[in-house]
Amino acid sequence: MYYIGVDLGTSAVKLLLMEGSGKICNIVSKEYPLFFPHPGWSEQNPEDWFAQSMEGIKELTEGIDRKEVAGIGFGGQMHGLVTLDKDDNVIRPAILWNDGRTGEETEYLNTVIGKEKLSQYTANIAFAGFTAPKILWMQKHEPENFKKVVKIMLPKDYLAYRLSGSFCTDVSDASGMLLLDVKNRCWSKEMLEICHITEEQLPKLYESWQVVGNLKAEVAKELGFSEDVKVVAGAGDNAAAAVGTGTVGDGQCNISLGTSGTIFISSKDFGVDENNALHSFDHADGSYHLMGCMLSAASCNKWWSEEILKTKDFAAEQAPIRKLGENQVFFLPYLMGERSPHNNPDARGVFFGMSMDTTRADMTQAVLEGVAFGLRDSLEVARSLGIHIERTKICGGGAKSPLWKKIIANVMNLKVDVPENEEGPSMGGAMLAAVGCGEYPDVETICNKLVRVVDTVEPEPELVAKYEEKYRKFRKLYPAMKELFR
Ligand code: XUL
Repeated sequence: MYYIGVDLGTSAVKLLLMEGSGKICNIVSKEYPLFFPHPGWSEQNPEDWFAQSMEGIKELTEGIDRKEVAGIGFGGQMHGLVTLDKDDNVIRPAILWNDGRTGEETEYLNTVIGKEKLSQYTANIAFAGFTAPKILWMQKHEPENFKKVVKIMLPKDYLAYRLSGSFCTDVSDASGMLLLDVKNRCWSKEMLEICHITEEQLPKLYESWQVVGNLKAEVAKELGFSEDVKVVAGAGDNAAAAVGTGTVGDGQCNISLGTSGTIFISSKDFGVDENNALHSFDHADGSYHLMGCMLSAASCNKWWSEEILKTKDFAAEQAPIRKLGENQVFFLPYLMGERSPHNNPDARGVFFGMSMDTTRADMTQAVLEGVAFGLRDSLEVARSLGIHIERTKICGGGAKSPLWKKIIANVMNLKVDVPENEEGPSMGGAMLAAVGCGEYPDVETICNKLVRVVDTVEPEPELVAKYEEKYRKFRKLYPAMKELFR
């Protein structure tokens, strides 16, 4: 049988076809536009997600017996606000995870309601990208739209709804709404009251591998699939990526270098970062995780290469980079503001330290290093909580670059284990579907059976020492500039 993993990303939907044995048969990617209607705002049309996913699934399954497809699972960009009216029309474009418009609402939640209460209700505080502040923003700025809201859902849940008719979400993705009682895996009544919404407006909660329904008859017909195809709830993209890279169990770590950059630490037990710099969310394997998220990671390199240098040949730009740990140029990677650990939607990108002998390669290197330093900021928070991490998996588009992996291993002083493929969330989505369809008994078992590490990038003590010094300087830059971002 075949399983389809759908990674509903920010730049594209990535689809992966997997056999029950774990063999990847095909991978397809379909892009859609991302809109920045104001500086710091970020929106997409849910209709585009669905249309491109349908096209992608058709292309993905060309040449196979489509009746052999058994299940579909998701990894989805988290936190996005999708709202439907009584006739299931999308009310306004989705407001995405990297949208910074909710500064005021975030401030209200963190100061008037208060961080202690939020943390008690949800295990988290408010960040501008989370869903609850967006709901408050819509109430204030678009009251007519808000009155029409019958269903509130996350991006991947819109796909599940269109494919199966089931109004559902999973606990890992729901954790990022600031509406979920993460510890008890249920909606927080207090948070619903604070946001003036009812439980009827929210999707039914599932664990990530659970089946939410079958394909709708008309969808099955259009795709040439059987109506028995099961749709599983899936997970937020980071939890799905963690499944795809086998980051389950206690104290395992995964770094995702996608549009965002995340460091994800799995845990059997529920735990909260007392300063709430790291998110405390449910994991897709039935347990928990802590996560730091930077809003611009591989997207910094994409911006630098494509928008500024006008090239898509990332490898050629990185080829002349030799002097690791000696760069005088620094880059603050806050192109969309920053989430972890600064929680500042007004922060912006900065190059620092150029001189007349600075080269194009130094600038490119600074971008790659700036992202690694940003991830290290979250790792330091985890270390300050007494969490000991020696090694990490890695996935996402940025993980294709051997140089970037080397920089990460040395900046963070971690052994970087490279899985056979870097398709974290789509692989995770397909694996969750295989568990939901009964091909494997649980998430941990499928991870143990299917995930293979093919290489390890070891940190080199001399380079680690050089980067330690550079990191100390990097850490001083944000506080020095913070006031200027206002
Ligand atoms: C995680 C986060 C991002 C998005 C990217 O909290 O906001 O990683 O999920 O798709």
